Amino acid sequence: MTRRKKIYEGKAKILYEGPEPGTLIQYFKDDTTAFDAKKKAVLEGKGVINNRISEYVMTRLNSIGIQNHFIRRLNLREQLIREVEIIPLEVVCRNIAAGSLSTRFGLPEGQPLPRSIIEFYYKDDKLHDPMVAEEHITAFNWASTQEIDDMMALTLRVNDFLTGMFGAVGITLVDFKIEYGRIWEGDFARVILADEISPDSCRLWDSATNEKLDKDRFRRDLGNVIESYTEVARRLGIMKEMP
Ligand code: C5P
Repeated sequence: MTRRKKIYEGKAKILYEGPEPGTLIQYFKDDTTAFDAKKKAVLEGKGVINNRISEYVMTRLNSIGIQNHFIRRLNLREQLIREVEIIPLEVVCRNIAAGSLSTRFGLPEGQPLPRSIIEFYYKDDKLHDPMVAEEHITAFNWASTQEIDDMMALTLRVNDFLTGMFGAVGITLVDFKIEYGRIWEGDFARVILADEISPDSCRLWDSATNEKLDKDRFRRDLGNVIESYTEVARRLGIMKEMP
């Protein structure tokens, strides 16, 4: 492998300098963390599956006009992406109560929500990604009011599309987390989707049995994590067999 400049290393991915200005290479690791990285493991092959699933999802979203940073997959673990100015927020969209929403409001896991709910969290591991309101986002200059509106509208479109896409293969999209970045077009900053969309960042349940096919298998020690991720890829028609 040629030596490349590492731009950033996160818990599950590494960003390297790309071949042309304005591009980066996103490398998917097998490392898996939960609960603020208090729980860690290396799940062999996870990076390969998430690279493929995220490629598939981002390509489908692009095809319906939802711009994102994905350019093309380079190899098993890497994809070429557009460099964006990352907005330091995690945008969570929920359709069914689970996870921290269930804990916060005492809602039984699996209870459908009256409508989809979007939440913003400030991306900062040291602060444990606190939930924030629009007021914090604009006051601390993380994003403008217009950008918040754009992220909300885009997130609802992503939710509609992904709900249908997964629904068609017998998977219920319970909730997911996405991230956005800015690309500059002259003086205008456009908000586009960044990061990844994979079973690491979504709750995906088998529609017939409610079996979990996502990272909750790791969080809750349910076993068969890689098998479940592979099942998601298989149903989407991406991977015929384990990497
Ligand atoms: O834990 P919580 O219920 O708030 O998570 C909501 C959704 O966001 C889940 O699909 C989870 O996998 C995802 N998430 C994530 N990264 C985080 C926090 C949540 O991908 N740091």
